[in-house]
Amino acid sequence: MTDQTIYFSEEKSEEAVIARMDSARVDPRLHQVMASLVKHLHAFIKDVEPTNEEWMQGIKFLAETGQMCNDWRQEFILLSDTLGVSMLVETVNNRKPSGATEATVLGPFYVEGAPHLEHGANISLDGKGEPMVVRGRVTDVEGRPIAGALLDVWQANEDGFYDVQQKGVQPDMNLRGVFATNTDGRYWFRSAKPNDYPIPDDGPVGTLLKALKRHPYRPAHVHFIVSAKGFAPITTHIFTPDSPHLDSDAVFGVKESLIGDFVRNENASDASRYGFNQPFWEVECDFVLSRS
Ligand code: BEZ
Ligand code: FE
Repeated sequence: MTDQTIYFSEEKSEEAVIARMDSARVDPRLHQVMASLVKHLHAFIKDVEPTNEEWMQGIKFLAETGQMCNDWRQEFILLSDTLGVSMLVETVNNRKPSGATEATVLGPFYVEGAPHLEHGANISLDGKGEPMVVRGRVTDVEGRPIAGALLDVWQANEDGFYDVQQKGVQPDMNLRGVFATNTDGRYWFRSAKPNDYPIPDDGPVGTLLKALKRHPYRPAHVHFIVSAKGFAPITTHIFTPDSPHLDSDAVFGVKESLIGDFVRNENASDASRYGFNQPFWEVECDFVLSRS
């Protein structure tokens, strides 16, 4: 016992726990993170004053969240997403100079190794949905084109599922591709207009959303990771403007600047020029990268 001993009490609970770390020998960042976590957790308990039964219910929820995780399903990421924490982490790590494209969540359905494709390729391998042409430019914040920038693109199909959620049903690499910009910083590809879809809600996070009277839907979007040598890569989406869930995205990913201008083209000769036999959608998606 020393004069500095802090015994555990309601008033000094967090101090007692934080003092147990050997601040001279603990990695300073770990010390900072754990001290803050303990402070906020103890403040939460003091605010909520859970009963023992409620606390055990919370522990059970977290245990079930972990048990739901496997190589294909990351329930803790869904928990972080639906509590707005993933978006907050993304936002504090991407305080870009004004003018750069805003970032949003990566989500759990990104797959490395999508095929590198020529301009104009159609990434919709299942042929479902209304056809769409996506084109645009990648520039720096001064508006100068970036040649050789890579756009890694992925989206769900008309039924609201990613290929990895429907192995054996959708073709592998359906609605995925990597495109490089030309010397003018331009790219284009063909695809299918995305639809709104629910995030996986058959686990503990889905049960929590139901209890909170929240829906699990994400507004229709196309994912992009845009990268170029010498520039900070950007993980973002383009949202369709006609989604009923733009103001209630289950994972808080919508930023106004990311809502695209989708235009329906009903001109039959334009459609046949693009190899479509029905009206199609056109959208310009420009991206602005800041120097790394
Ligand atoms: C997605 O957009 O792919 C996504 C993001 C967060 C949670 C679930 C899905
Ligand atoms: Fe998505």
